[in-house]
Amino acid sequence: MIVLRDKKDLLVAIDELKRSEKKITLIPTMGNLHEGHKALIRCAPMDTFKVATIYVNPLQFNDKDDYVNYPKSTESDINLCKELNIDLVYAPELDITTEIDIENRIDLPKFSGYLCGATRKGHFQGVYTIVKHLFSLIEPDYACFGKKDFQQLVLIKYIASTYFQNLKIIEVDTVRVNNIALSSRLSRLDEKTICDGQIIFKSLLKIREQLLKGDKFSEIKDSYIDEIEKLDFNVEYLEHRNNDTLETAENHLSNTSIFVACNVKNVRLIDNIQI
Ligand code: PAF
Repeated sequence: MIVLRDKKDLLVAIDELKRSEKKITLIPTMGNLHEGHKALIRCAPMDTFKVATIYVNPLQFNDKDDYVNYPKSTESDINLCKELNIDLVYAPELDITTEIDIENRIDLPKFSGYLCGATRKGHFQGVYTIVKHLFSLIEPDYACFGKKDFQQLVLIKYIASTYFQNLKIIEVDTVRVNNIALSSRLSRLDEKTICDGQIIFKSLLKIREQLLKGDKFSEIKDSYIDEIEKLDFNVEYLEHRNNDTLETAENHLSNTSIFVACNVKNVRLIDNIQI
């Protein structure tokens, strides 16, 4: 496995890979790899060069403390990539945002302002900028992204369809352990809080059951928020929206999901469930 730390070496290596018939799959990450990332890597099509990136992108953090405290474990991440048969890891040591031509005015699609975009100012702008940059550098044929960050996935699909029409986005199911959607930030929580956090996904399961039985989301939503908040989780949003436009679902069930974000002890947890 090749490990590269700077753009020049990356470009040379990609050039080399491009000479082969074999296609390239990109797995972008911010490191501190867990089972969710392993699932992304396992979904890379066989017989492709697997390129993983490990880079904590400062542009997508709206909260400086969150950026500073973001867990980092690059050496063990690199070892894990090797075990999982990654061919090339790009793990820049320096701030690579200085090498990006930051677009002055990015017209993000309307849905980027909903859900996480409503409170995390600049977050999707940052994701858009780094992902578009990585797509341009690496020119992958496939790229794997998780459904836990569903809104991010919708944005990535928008970037691919607008600028990289030959790129296929592979959507990977959320990995949950004991009903908790895995996230690198979980390592900042104690066991009791993580255990209490099961209420988030359990609520999504119950809401789906009730909606399928004919209950109205608007009539049951508040009772679920109350239940979750009894455990000291602060619910940022609990919403029923369309999977493509992320507009409010207005009592339609097909092609919709329930989306939730909660804050606990300065850690933000998100999850979603398809109806
Ligand atoms: O999902 C993530 O880990 C990040 O948002 C990504 C896609 C690697 C961009 O920094």
